[in-house]
This record gives sequence, C-alpha cells and structure tokens, in this order.
Amino acid sequence: MAMKHIVNTRRSLFWILRWLLWLLIIVCLAILTCLWFMHDLWLTVNPTDKVGGLALSEATTPLHAANLTMESKDRRGDGVLYVVRSGHKNYRFQVSSILRTWGQDIRASPSDGLIVVGDVAVQNPAVLGVLECGKDHSLGLCCKTGYALQFAHHWVDDFAWFFVVDDDTFVNIRNLRQVLSTFSFLEAQALGVLGCGPGFCEDGLGGFCGGGGYALSRAALKRIMANSTSSFQVDLMSHLATERDGMAYDDISVACLLKRHRVRLQPLHGLYAFGSPKQWLDDAYERAITSQSPLPITFHYVGPILMEALHNRFERLSAEGDVAAPESEKRVESSNQSSPPAEAAKFSDFTATFAVLSRLPGTCDKAIVRYVSHPPGGGSSISFG
Ligand SMILES: *[C@@H]1O[C@H](CO)[C@@H](O)[C@H](O)[C@H]1NC(C)=O
Ligand SMILES: *[C@@H]1O[C@H](CO)[C@@H](O)[C@H](O)[C@H]1NC(C)=O
Ligand SMILES: *[C@@H]1O[C@H](CO)[C@@H](O)[C@H](O)[C@H]1NC(C)=O
Repeated sequence: MAMKHIVNTRRSLFWILRWLLWLLIIVCLAILTCLWFMHDLWLTVNPTDKVGGLALSEATTPLHAANLTMESKDRRGDGVLYVVRSGHKNYRFQVSSILRTWGQDIRASPSDGLIVVGDVAVQNPAVLGVLECGKDHSLGLCCKTGYALQFAHHWVDDFAWFFVVDDDTFVNIRNLRQVLSTFSFLEAQALGVLGCGPGFCEDGLGGFCGGGGYALSRAALKRIMANSTSSFQVDLMSHLATERDGMAYDDISVACLLKRHRVRLQPLHGLYAFGSPKQWLDDAYERAITSQSPLPITFHYVGPILMEALHNRFERLSAEGDVAAPESEKRVESSNQSSPPAEAAKFSDFTATFAVLSRLPGTCDKAIVRYVSHPPGGGSSISFG
C-alpha cells in the first residue's frame, strides 16, 4: 500500500516537473521572441547612425551626387549595372554578404557596376537612400524600385544592361554576361522569368517573377524615362498591379509599364526565382550549379551563409573549368537557350512548389500562387524559375 503510494507520488512529481520544464521553455521562447521584436522595432523607430560599422546619413541621396556602391576599374559601356533594393535592417547581413561575394566579382570585372538602394543612405561603400518610400513590401517596394531605376538611369550611357535584384539573391555575373551577350542592348527589351500575376497588365499576361532578377536593356531604360525620370515615377505609381486587398507587386508593375511603352519582354533562363528550402548546397543546388543549359545565373532566397557557399562553389568550378576545358564554354554560348534539361526543370518545379506551400516572404508570393493555380498554356518560365 505504502509502496504504491510512493510510486504514485513520484510519478505525479515527475509529471509536474516535466510540465514545469515545458512551461519554462515556452516562457523563455516567448521572452526571446519579444526581445527580438522589440529590437527590430527599436531599430525601425531609431535607426542607429551606424549599421555594420557604416555611417548612415539622414537625407535621400540626391541623384547628381550619387556614387556607385561598387564598380570595376573601367567603364567601357558594355557592362551590367546591378540594381539591388534593400532596407537598413538588411545592410549588416544581406548587403554586406553581397559586397563580400559577387560584389567582389563586379569589382574585378571588366565593366560592371553595382548600386544598392535602401531607405537610409550610407557612405563608403555608398548605399543610396530613399527615405520617402517607406519600408513595406507593397507600395514601399514599388516606390523604391522606381527610384532605383531612376538612379540607374543616371548612368544609362555607362552600361549596356540594368539588372534589378533583391538583396537575398546570389548572382553569377560571369554567366549573366555570357547569356546577355546573345541579346542586343540597343533593342528596347527586358528579360526575366515571365508569367507571374496572370490577369495583370493590359494584355492580361502578368509580368516578371522578380525574385530571380530581370534585365532592362539600355534602350528600354531610355525609352521608359524618355519624358523625365519624375514622370516615369508618376507613371509607375499611378498604374500599379494591385490585388483587391491592396497588395501591390513591384515586379509586375514594372513589367506592365515596360509593355505599355512597347518594350519587348523575353524569357531568360537560369534565374532560380523561387529559391530552395535549403540554406546549404544539396544535390539539387549542385545539379543547378553545374548545369550547362541553362547556365545558372541567379538564386533567390539566399542568406549570408549560403551566399558565401555558392560563391566559393562557383569559384572552385570555374578554376576547374579554366584548367579542364576552355572549349566547353564556347559550346554553351551557342547552345539553345530555350531547351533546358529536365534536371534543372525538376529543381525549379520542386522549389516552386515549396515556395507555394510555405509562403516564403516576398513580393511575388501571391503572384506565384496565382501562377501555379492558373498556369498559362505552354508557358515555359516556371520550369526555370
Ligand atoms: C561620392 O564620392 C565623393 C568622392 O569620393 C564624395 O565626396 C561624395 O560625398 C560622395 N557622395 C555621396 C552621396 O556619398
Ligand atoms: C511621354 O509623354 C507623352 C505625351 O504626354 C506620352 O504620350 C508618352 O507615353 C510619354 N512617354 C513616357 C515614356 O512616359
Ligand atoms: C533555338 O530554338 C528556337 C525554337 O525552338 C529556334 O527558333 C532558334 O533558331 C534556335 N536557336 C539556335 C541558336 O539554335
């Protein structure tokens, strides 16, 4: 009898202890989450005058005084200006990881450049600041993208192409240069992953899935800014691609604007716009990285650690390639862009599905859902998203 009693008491003691432990863990987690949000809020209300050791400045960067964030020694006029949109909370990790990885490739390239356009301006390396747009991923991002294109237009004659990307995107600038060399920058055209947001734009075909980046030719950028940069901004902001709930898509709005001004939109393969659930180099990444057709150009949803890993992997690959077979590159150049192998397609199908399931934060999410649930007939773009 007494024995049973003791066992029972022990059991209930265990039970209570276990629950107490759980409670403790939950309370700790709650406190940590709370602190994290408070820190974010504090940063939002009170941007420090230094982010990642960089001095911040208050005003919007004046166009005429703007400097490139990163540039090659020469500016021969045939390179790519990369246009990254960001916000000060991402400067420390995302932006600095770009500057350490593919930003360095730009510095070493023959004729490319990079501008980072955020909310708060930074000097050296220059981050261009646009305070008036706000920080949201809807109207704010559309407005910021407009300003970013206005900044880009400031250097319109110094570059052949203008490639718009997010701050969580890895770019292989060598592959992009190679693929762009098969298109003319003197034609008013824009290249990217097409098909997001069906129903939007005057033709109802939607626009870019911008997470993988999109390229405007010099002629295209000149055409949309033909009247003035400020009337371009008004044009963009007064014709936004907006859902009924008010969500506005920057990438689709820009694509619609391009089409309104008769800029031709074309698919560009090798842009992995929908990312991967993995933040490390798994087999799917490995297959995409080593694919010869399409050549991998961008990967979206890449955190700082994966950014370094991708950069290192590509460096090793090109070191091996330079030793092994200089011919293979030539073969790629003439290979047909419109027939990527099944493997690359599989990778992106998988990641596209994941993006839909998990609703990764990003401006294109809803558009992806719309896209996947109404795939346009014969559309080719999602396979290489
Ligand atoms: C651009 O660079 C010049 C010279 O390096 C500097 O004097 C100027 O303040 C910079 N402008 C901005 C907006 O950072
Ligand atoms: C420039 O202005 C004219 C006349 O208002 C208009 O028809 C045209 O669409 C504008 N072009 C651009 C690129 O905004
Ligand atoms: C690529 O394929 C398209 C259609 O399948 C064809 O029109 C084009 O000529 C091809 N280009 C090359 C370089 O083979």
